[in-house]
Amino acid sequence: MIKIGIIGCGKITEVRHAPEYVENPYCELAGFFDVVPGRAREFADKFGGRAFATMEELLASDVDAVSVCVANAYHASTAIAALKAGKHVLCEKPMAMNEADCLEMVETARKMGRFLMIGQNQRLAKAHVKAKEILDSGELGRIITFQTQFCHPGPEGWTGSKNSWFFDKKIAAFGAMADLGVHKTDLIVYLTGQKIVRTSAVLATLDKKFPDGTPITVDDNAICTYTLESGAIGTMTVGWTNYGQEDNSTKIYCEGGVIRLYDDPRYSLIVEKRDGDVVPYELDQLTSNKEQTTGGRTSTGVIDAFIESIRTNTPPAISGESVLPAMRAVFANQVSNDTGAAVEIKG
Ligand SMILES: NC(=O)c1ccc[n+]([C@@H]2O[C@H](COP(=O)([O-])OP(=O)(O)OC[C@H]3O[C@@H](n4cnc5c(N)ncnc54)[C@H](O)[C@@H]3O)[C@@H](O)[C@H]2O)c1
Repeated sequence: MIKIGIIGCGKITEVRHAPEYVENPYCELAGFFDVVPGRAREFADKFGGRAFATMEELLASDVDAVSVCVANAYHASTAIAALKAGKHVLCEKPMAMNEADCLEMVETARKMGRFLMIGQNQRLAKAHVKAKEILDSGELGRIITFQTQFCHPGPEGWTGSKNSWFFDKKIAAFGAMADLGVHKTDLIVYLTGQKIVRTSAVLATLDKKFPDGTPITVDDNAICTYTLESGAIGTMTVGWTNYGQEDNSTKIYCEGGVIRLYDDPRYSLIVEKRDGDVVPYELDQLTSNKEQTTGGRTSTGVIDAFIESIRTNTPPAISGESVLPAMRAVFANQVSNDTGAAVEIKG
């Protein structure tokens, strides 16, 4: 059995990591650690394993692998400490707060001969996997443009706290642009098989406020115009101020037709061919934040993929290295906004 330790006992551990490890037959939860006293005990009582008193104690134990589910500012230091202790690491998104930290995470994993996987669960959504297959087959020809969206009412509905760390630049680093945007940026890189080479982005804090009425210190909306290696262009729109139904859709416009993803309540993938044929696929639907927090959970496949990598000694497809192009675009979006100029993305 693969022994798992989880660092950070908050919402994502409660609704995704812990239950999905419990359901996986090849691993067992060895225990939890959280900086807030009592949380690890609470999670151990609910999901099994023990409560570790410190992170060092967890890392010195015989756990084989660690989920890093702490707030963004501590992803890199926690993941690097775990890798140095010889553990495989599944780190939540966004990978880290700057490129140097991302690179150090990748390099530490390489040096230690351990796997580093990032929780980019959108790559595993069934309609996204099928869309990639269709795009890779070439049947729709060249990609011309794309639009991708991720807009919902904000993280306070998720964490249940109006004073969430998600709103604090020192701990979150970025707002909706990275929180939601890294999902869709990574998705575009994954679906198209291309890096983003240029961005022009506008970030804004339009509506969210701390309980004392002052504006939050990160963006609550972002619109980013991306150019791909091939010259294809597209937009990513993300926001925490969609007070209606969550929008998690993507459209890819190709020479031979259009792919619509999670844009229809029934068919999660619709291919509209240029000759007029329409092919609807009834695959899965993405679980919204609202559904996850009210118990309507469906497995994301992230935990199973991580365990499968370790079990079969096969590097994870969603490796730290594979997420670097998306992270570089995320960092470039902030620079573009701050300078008011388009940014060329190297690397
Ligand atoms: N993949 C996804 O779709 C998805 C969805 C939600 C959240 N996330 C990510 O998961 C991470 C956690 O988010 P959450 O919603 O669970 O937040 P949360 O605030 O509910 O939980 C974070 C927990 O980490 C603990 N913590 C913070 N710093 C720590 C440290 N240094 N060591 C140990 N514990 C520490 C906190 O006390 C808290 O219990 C974030 O990075 C977030 O972006 C990913």
